[in-house]
Amino acid sequence: MPLVTSKDLLERAAREGYAVGAFNANNMEMVQAIVETAEEEKAPVIVQISQGAINYAGADYFAALVKIAAQKALVPVVLHLDHGMDLRINVQCLRAGFSSLMFDGSRLPFAENVAITRQVVELAHMVGVPVEGEIGKVPTTGGEAVPYEELRQFFTKPEEAVEFFQASGVDSLAVSVGSAHKMKVQEAILDIERIAAIREAVQIPLVLHGASGVKDDQIPAAVKAGIAKINVATELGKVYTAEIKRAFAADPDEVDLRKYTAPARAAVKEVVREKIRLFGSQGKAPAVFVDGGAWSRPDVVREAPE
Ligand code: G3H
Ligand code: ZN
Repeated sequence: MPLVTSKDLLERAAREGYAVGAFNANNMEMVQAIVETAEEEKAPVIVQISQGAINYAGADYFAALVKIAAQKALVPVVLHLDHGMDLRINVQCLRAGFSSLMFDGSRLPFAENVAITRQVVELAHMVGVPVEGEIGKVPTTGGEAVPYEELRQFFTKPEEAVEFFQASGVDSLAVSVGSAHKMKVQEAILDIERIAAIREAVQIPLVLHGASGVKDDQIPAAVKAGIAKINVATELGKVYTAEIKRAFAADPDEVDLRKYTAPARAAVKEVVREKIRLFGSQGKAPAVFVDGGAWSRPDVVREAPE
């Protein structure tokens, strides 16, 4: 199937009480692992590419890889820009055919965050592509857990989220509710009441970043409270590199690099499978496809918001 946008996918997930897995890919094997597993689990899926990955390989390379993977799959696949830090990278990805964007202005003062997010939204909506924004800030760690009291200072405030949503016109919202990026241990506890209050206030799908560090038992309540997209990156990198090291240690003289990358790809598949099941999105693909609306088709030109 062609790529779909994240708009219908996430709104449906929020309505029906599950979350779509958004998995970061850094190379072909990761793209294959994510999309193949989603297909096996009959789950809609988001393949997301960070700005760092785009700097490494190019937006056009990832667009080509993910489009081919999507074409071969019978589940909805979204190609999403993860943490685009400026307008330029968002425009580059729009041009490359990404079907979902993110502008992350969480480091900026509120008014500046709104202004740039709004610009991205206006451009992207002209060609039917939805945009994720971020208010509050999900911090990045050096791998360890961050004390809750420290995290609290970054938390998203429901009233700020409403103001941000109304002024920017975003389609989904990344929120800071207790997780942190790049944690290598699952120790984060989420503020479930805050998630519910934000969702109640903004009524758009909410996004959980830094899910690698979140305890599994937190996820069902977070989804019930309004999280409809869950981002996973570090955990995939952890298993991928562990398998490479294992294969390398088993035979350091091996020069066929596929002997390293094939087991790494297989290991990533199993983590993606666990996550899809934990998020409740397994078996949700057919329903999404049956009546996908205009927003599922990036070729449908929409009016820019007022
Ligand atoms: O945007 C990407 C995610 O928030 C992934 O976070 O690397 O902690 O899983 P993670
Ligand atoms: Zn993130």
